[in-house]
Amino acid sequence: MPTRPSLTRVPSESPWTFSHQTRFTQRRWRPLLIFTLLACSTVTIFRFGFHAGSSSSISSSSEASSSHPFTLTYSTHPITRMMEEGQERFQSKIRKQSKTLSEAIEQYKLRYGMAPPKGFDGWWEFAKKNGVVLVDEYDTLMRDLAPFYALRGQTAFGDYVDEDEDPFRPGSGLDRQGWALGGGHEMRRRIAEVASVASIDIVQIRKGNLSTVSISKDGFVDDEVSARAIGLKSMLGSSAAYLPDIDFPVNAKAEGRVIVPWDRWEVAGQGGMASDKIGLGMGNRSYIEDLAPHDIKDTLHPLSTFHPDWRGAGNVWDKWRRTCPPTSTARKSYTSIRSALIDKTATSHNAVSGRITHSSVDPAFLFVPSTSFNAVSFCDLPHLHYTQGHFFSDWRTLEDLYPVLSPARAKGFGDIKIPSHYYYGSTQAYTYGWDKATMTVEAVDRGEVAWGDVTDAEGGVDDRDFIIDPAYDGHNNTSNPPRNRKTGKESKRNKIFWRGATTGGGNSPPGFAALYQRHRAVRMAGWDIEGDVEVWVPYSNPIANISAHHHLSSAKFRTLQNHTKVVDAPLIAHKIPLATLNMALMDVAFVKASNAKQYPGGLKKLTEDHRFSSGVLLGNHWQYKYLLDLDGMSYSGRFMSFLASDSVPIKSTVYEEFFSEWIEPWVHYIPLSASYEEIYNIFGYFSGIPAEVVEKVYGNATDPVTGALLFPPGTNIPAIPGAPDGDARLQRIARAGKQWKNTIGRKVDMETYVYRLALEWARLNADDREAMTMKV
Ligand SMILES: *[C@@H]1O[C@H](CO)[C@@H](O)[C@H](O)[C@H]1NC(C)=O
Ligand SMILES: *[C@@H]1O[C@H](CO)[C@@H](O)[C@H](O)[C@H]1NC(C)=O
Ligand SMILES: *[C@@H]1O[C@H](CO)[C@@H](O)[C@H](O)[C@H]1NC(C)=O
Ligand SMILES: *[C@@H]1O[C@H](CO)[C@@H](O)[C@H](O)[C@H]1NC(C)=O
Ligand SMILES: *[C@@H]1O[C@H](CO)[C@@H](O)[C@H](O)[C@H]1NC(C)=O
Ligand SMILES: *[C@@H]1O[C@H](CO)[C@@H](O)[C@H](O)[C@H]1NC(C)=O
Ligand SMILES: *[C@@H]1O[C@H](CO)[C@@H](O)[C@H](O)[C@H]1NC(C)=O
Repeated sequence: MPTRPSLTRVPSESPWTFSHQTRFTQRRWRPLLIFTLLACSTVTIFRFGFHAGSSSSISSSSEASSSHPFTLTYSTHPITRMMEEGQERFQSKIRKQSKTLSEAIEQYKLRYGMAPPKGFDGWWEFAKKNGVVLVDEYDTLMRDLAPFYALRGQTAFGDYVDEDEDPFRPGSGLDRQGWALGGGHEMRRRIAEVASVASIDIVQIRKGNLSTVSISKDGFVDDEVSARAIGLKSMLGSSAAYLPDIDFPVNAKAEGRVIVPWDRWEVAGQGGMASDKIGLGMGNRSYIEDLAPHDIKDTLHPLSTFHPDWRGAGNVWDKWRRTCPPTSTARKSYTSIRSALIDKTATSHNAVSGRITHSSVDPAFLFVPSTSFNAVSFCDLPHLHYTQGHFFSDWRTLEDLYPVLSPARAKGFGDIKIPSHYYYGSTQAYTYGWDKATMTVEAVDRGEVAWGDVTDAEGGVDDRDFIIDPAYDGHNNTSNPPRNRKTGKESKRNKIFWRGATTGGGNSPPGFAALYQRHRAVRMAGWDIEGDVEVWVPYSNPIANISAHHHLSSAKFRTLQNHTKVVDAPLIAHKIPLATLNMALMDVAFVKASNAKQYPGGLKKLTEDHRFSSGVLLGNHWQYKYLLDLDGMSYSGRFMSFLASDSVPIKSTVYEEFFSEWIEPWVHYIPLSASYEEIYNIFGYFSGIPAEVVEKVYGNATDPVTGALLFPPGTNIPAIPGAPDGDARLQRIARAGKQWKNTIGRKVDMETYVYRLALEWARLNADDREAMTMKV
């Protein structure tokens, strides 16, 4: 039963009430949770833990969105502000890029405290020749590499002799130029070691020629082909001729593989991986593995017995939580779930980024400034790790600082980012505009659909305003896209769309799949979900007028009435049943049940609990204005195609990728928190509340003063508009994303990235790093 609609500008008593229901606390979830929990015999604690987790929210917070919507107007709406600030930030980033080689060298020295690597001038020419826009933005790459610049060899292995040390800095582990002693030697040793691990492949450069090498992996049959190594090899095609002989170990899996525990970090002048300062003065640092004496004998070849899968021995989370500081909740006791609960009251409000102000704001109105690479503190709120599948990966992680190239990097991991082969290659399932027949990439995908009508006489469009060919709606035919019933014009549907498989995490330990990111999203978008959500839109329409009159004092109502311009109209909340909203604007379903046995209750329960639908052509995505983008086993390989399209990606991810500092959230795409809860208010801002929802919610509402029906039989029920230029703003994001993909996310930009990575790599691998440094 939909609850009685209400319109109110009064802050709700408990901001958490609605949000609870959008997540794990629905009644129908109890049996599942209990099942899950029995498996780990911490039933009550865990259940409580989830409630606690929900209330403190895994939505990340931002200064920008910290105000209660009650106090806001359209022009001070956090989305309005973040779009404007993002635009300004991005424009100024572009303006500030170096124009000449000498400027680029200066910029490099300023940022990283050392001269660029040898060959930087060749790289600069390559970048200029290919019109690369962002030539200075490599901070996250340098941060990935910083520990390797700090890596020091050992005299015991003949990596250096004591006389090599800078006599003015005895015991520093640095040579006279400030480079870590024996670093190149140690780097090569580690590359050779990690190359012996199954699920790691090698891309090799010899005399300027490229090859992929697979070192015999006895005993382990790996069915995943090394598409990632082949991808890197093609990306290096344009630069290999200018590079010395080097080896790149490439992770054959999508999941991150390197997790170095907190206590093993001893990098001079910085607090390990957590430090923001990492990357500055990189040559002048040393990393010393702080090994217990009994470990020393294992340091040479700790990987000789390494199995790429866990085989029940350990799991990612247990390794990961050791990257947290010893004082953190995740470290305080081995049974970190329990500690999280004990600490719950203390930490829940400053959970996400230490800001308490948000505790009074409904998480459904908390917009994130960017995706959550740094936003969620799993060290402080360890129970939230159950919500992300990457902590349950079946692939074993390496606990020492090994150089491994991976397509994405989650917080706490030590992998070095390279562009995904899905982005570089062209395939039907991942590439926008791919024409299988001619094997070319077209500028406009055959399935692309015109943006179309923003509104009609009723102030908005929803599915009822479209003519949709059933053949097209099967999502396997792009020939007859939706048309507006009244105007006859081709038009994108005002909906949020997602399809994908039930992947999104491994099974180590088993029993937690229900809580992974994809499963949560599919259930939250379910058409039979209980609960309500408050959608805040600018006060502007007769429905709001009448209901506001009912709820507010007449003085306040008169104030409201004076806002004749929508820009300074205050926001007003519409409390709407989630099921009603989901039916109108969410089309989110699984298409394939893979590993259904891993789901508690098996395939039967999985299909009962989640919506399933048939498969979808990539080209059929473009009929929707909003495309949800979620992590799978790792990063989402579809993101680049979503950007390239005329639709708008709404992205939630725990990963950083090679392009993360090149792209601007709220300008090129819409970032979504890990809890997804604000998605309805994102939709409300850009698209308002569709007429079909208004009809269900207010269809029988009466004027509180006269008692007359708001919509007497026969009248048209209008949509409730969102931001006055909401649809235009949404389209602006779609266009900016496409423009970004075509100017900054091109294949040649990926080649430029790996070229620069390779120059650093060559220096890292050299015995004489000074000789591999550009003379400036
Ligand atoms: C390291 O520090 C020394 C002394 O401060 C400086 O001369 C040298 O250039 C630095 N080296 C690098 C690679 O930054
Ligand atoms: C590299 O490739 C060139 C041209 O294909 C070939 O002549 C040369 O022998 C190759 N060098 C090595 C070391 O394989
Ligand atoms: C297309 O989808 C419809 C509806 O899901 C289905 O009945 C039909 O068999 C599909 N056709 C093809 C060619 O896959
Ligand atoms: C796609 O739909 C159209 C009708 O809209 C139909 O004529 C065509 O045969 C369909 N194509 C496929 C591959 O099913
Ligand atoms: C709100 O109601 C008042 C009368 O109560 C009316 O004058 C005004 O035009 C209405 N505003 C809107 C936006 O419908
Ligand atoms: C509304 O505007 C009128 C005319 O501008 C003004 O006289 C009146 O005081 C205002 N009322 C409120 C409640 O602000
Ligand atoms: C409105 O009232 C009619 C008659 O009582 C009822 O049939 C209908 O379901 C109601 N609609 C809504 C949206 O509540």
